[in-house]
Amino acid sequence: MQFKTLKPFPEGFLWGASSSAYQCEGAYLEDGRTLCVSDTAKVPAGTTNFNDGVDHYHRFKEDIALMKEMGFKEFRFSISWPRILPQGTGKVNPLGVDHYHEVIDECLKAGIEPVVTLYHFDLPQVLQDKYGGWASRQCIEDYLEYCKVCFEEYGHRVKYFLTINEQNMMALYMGGQYGGEKNCWQANHYMLVAQARAMILCHEICPEAWIAPAPNITAIYPATSSPEDNLAAMDFDQLRNRLFLDTACFGTYPEALINWWKDNDVMPEDITEEDMKNMKNAKPDFIAFNYYGAGTVRYISKEDGIKAKAEAMEKMDFMTGLMTYPGMCQAVKNPLQEVTSYGMAIDPIGLRITLRQLWERYHLPLLITENGCGVPDKLEEDGTIHDPYRIDYLRKHIKACQEAITDGVNLMGYSPWSAFDLISTHQGITKRYGLIYVDRDEFDLKEMKRYRKDSFYWYKKVIESNGADLD
Ligand code: BG6
Repeated sequence: MQFKTLKPFPEGFLWGASSSAYQCEGAYLEDGRTLCVSDTAKVPAGTTNFNDGVDHYHRFKEDIALMKEMGFKEFRFSISWPRILPQGTGKVNPLGVDHYHEVIDECLKAGIEPVVTLYHFDLPQVLQDKYGGWASRQCIEDYLEYCKVCFEEYGHRVKYFLTINEQNMMALYMGGQYGGEKNCWQANHYMLVAQARAMILCHEICPEAWIAPAPNITAIYPATSSPEDNLAAMDFDQLRNRLFLDTACFGTYPEALINWWKDNDVMPEDITEEDMKNMKNAKPDFIAFNYYGAGTVRYISKEDGIKAKAEAMEKMDFMTGLMTYPGMCQAVKNPLQEVTSYGMAIDPIGLRITLRQLWERYHLPLLITENGCGVPDKLEEDGTIHDPYRIDYLRKHIKACQEAITDGVNLMGYSPWSAFDLISTHQGITKRYGLIYVDRDEFDLKEMKRYRKDSFYWYKKVIESNGADLD
């Protein structure tokens, strides 16, 4: 619906931006840090690994000063588990602990609320080697031990914690590493239990702090108006979104999905009464979610699905292959959606729909913790970076936020990806998301000097006007 007048952004709206430790810090073996699973994962040819990041570990003060200049109200960053507990568990590394105290100090001095992700794709490699990481129930206990250190150290000064970044993407895209679908859903269950117990622990240790899950959530469109495609969209919503948020917010698994798992012989076996009790007792204070663009699916029969999946995997079209669920749905490209040069959807209306769906189902305050336009940028000789495409992207998504607020959604803040350029999960540094440009190439680190992009100045104006001036 179209409103005559849009509501203003609420007072105290959390404007800021996001990052994650392994993608920006660098210093990957410095001050006692050990490897995490993202450091050891194979990177595509021609792209950098994460070892040097954008040297945020040494330059966080400069970066936070630039965020202050933009008027940030919050900064979402993650704590590196292998910096705090180099062996994954056991002896705490004081240098790692001190580092995040310094980052938090710097944020608070600048009037910026730290929003802390506890775990963002950086499981200590040592735990992966020891027992297969999340394949083992032991990982729940080790994650909790790590969370306890973070809550005790930082919980009196950090108001917002996020449990696990994009658990759903880890399960749906990287689930293969556990050896079969059943094991993947089992590992996913352990993560859900770990998350629930972390929320309970956070409320015990730091009752003033708020804690939330942080999945990647998006509205799902049916490819056509056929009843089959509508059912497929509903099913995929259950698998991609509700599996992660119904469990976090209500402590229940979606029923049809459980029956589907049983029917397909992939129901995880190790689910105890105690687990379900913990999941019921855990109460998130808000929902954080990452949004890049709505998904689209069509119905596919079991027979056609098995064939299509095999063909796609054979052609190394993993996206289609992994997103084909024989007898349920298949993800397809949406010809009505605009896309970036990297093929990522640009869909601000999808954001409004997603916000509405989340608010209407869970009635918890919402925080957008990622949303952004990853494309190459050009540093001009005079030190400017003209990125009208990013401004346009952010403008449209912020407008969609305002429309959702006018719809009645309780939106706490907007934290796009990313505050400064960092290393993309799969596409190196060439795919840039930042408001602040970092001068380095894939393999030439240069001086990693920081520059203000045009979007930096534009976002400063947006924040100054509390979202009233989007021009
Ligand atoms: C999210 C992740 O999936 O998307 C980030 O939480 C990631 O870590 C971001 O960087 C953008 O994806 P990509 O692949 O372009 O880096």
